[in-house]
Amino acid sequence: MDHRGDSIALNDVLTDPDTRTDLQKQGPVHRATLPNGMPVWLVVGYDEAVAALNDDNLSTALATGGLDGGALSPDMRDALLKSLTNSDQPDHTRLRRLVSKAFTARRVEAMRPWISRLTDELIDGFAQHDQVDLMAEFAAPLPILVITELLGIPEADRPQVRAWSRTIISRLGMPDFPVRAATEFVEYLRDLIAQRRDDPDEGLISALIRARDENDALSANELTATIFLMIVAGHDTTLSLIGNGVYLLMQKPDRAAQLRADPSLLPAAIEEFLRLESPVPVANFRAAVNSFDIGGTRISAGDLVVISLQAANRNDSQFSDPSRFDLARTKGRHLAFGHGIHFCLGAPLARLEGELAIGTLLKRFPDLRLAVPAAELTWSQAPFIHRLDKLPLLLS
Ligand code: HEM
Repeated sequence: MDHRGDSIALNDVLTDPDTRTDLQKQGPVHRATLPNGMPVWLVVGYDEAVAALNDDNLSTALATGGLDGGALSPDMRDALLKSLTNSDQPDHTRLRRLVSKAFTARRVEAMRPWISRLTDELIDGFAQHDQVDLMAEFAAPLPILVITELLGIPEADRPQVRAWSRTIISRLGMPDFPVRAATEFVEYLRDLIAQRRDDPDEGLISALIRARDENDALSANELTATIFLMIVAGHDTTLSLIGNGVYLLMQKPDRAAQLRADPSLLPAAIEEFLRLESPVPVANFRAAVNSFDIGGTRISAGDLVVISLQAANRNDSQFSDPSRFDLARTKGRHLAFGHGIHFCLGAPLARLEGELAIGTLLKRFPDLRLAVPAAELTWSQAPFIHRLDKLPLLLS
């Protein structure tokens, strides 16, 4: 890659709002380094992010080496990563059509009463305490229980599945990729798929196995990679949405009061949480198929490109007073779920979980507040994760 001058560390941009704002003032595209040492181009402009997310010159399929740092064998990499998020057209179109046949709006909506009950049950587990770490006791368990139930993963296996998926996602793009956890997880999924082939149930795994398009179906590796994607995408992101949303509300008690008084504002609040503290701070890595320009910067074939959704979502070219938490914001479209062909397939489920979780929490705890000063809270350092490590709250 033709890098001249200094390169910035990706994490500085993700974790430090001042660095991000400074960079945006200097231009839409910069050189940066991943935590695993790989050099990348970092896109921080809004228009440039939209253009890059839509550009056929950028391939997610060619960029998977950046995710595991080259640690996985080709077969293991396919079994873990060959899903729709890491495919380009026309493969992507085929995969997305097949997965959409199984993961339907009806299937998600049918989960509503169950998610609502689960939310109350999780809250019952700590409601009598003075204090709770919301991340550990609520924001984390809810989405993993929802996605594993949706997929039909046996209850006894869920803690292990959660441990594997968290180990893997926290190391994507980082040094020391956990090859053992990835291999064990793929082997587990292969066994489970074999069981569901023999004995189908009502869950999403069986529906994915059944999904047919003329004579086409998901291959063995496409199935494992899609299930892995659903678990990771369905769990680690929604957990951050719930934590980041409650964190924002705890700093703005007047907004929390507004939401308690008028829950119909919740959908607008969820969009502001997604925009202001985007759970997925950067889009999936992309590699340049050809040489081309982004925002006046020449990208060479083979270069890796990282698109900062978080920076785009706080860009004042698109959002007036972008740091303001504004429930009446009508202008500007956030990119927290991406844009274009890879737009998040799980957005309706994430919004449903976010609304039920945060709405119920506000209703059940009228005096909810931070148990420590906000300055003492720490944020995750992994490139694909934007959330607090812990969120201690006083319940009454
Ligand atoms: C707040 C929660 C969520 C956020 C912020 C989020 C964010 C994103 C983003 C930014 C992308 C696009 C990545 C890119 O273009 O590089 C994406 C794709 C995707 N998400 Fe989500 N997601 C969330 C929840 C979910 C859930 C609950 C599921 C499903 C169970 C899910 C499934 C997917 C899938 C399958 C894709 C790939 C789509 C494709 O490549 O065509 N996501 N998500």
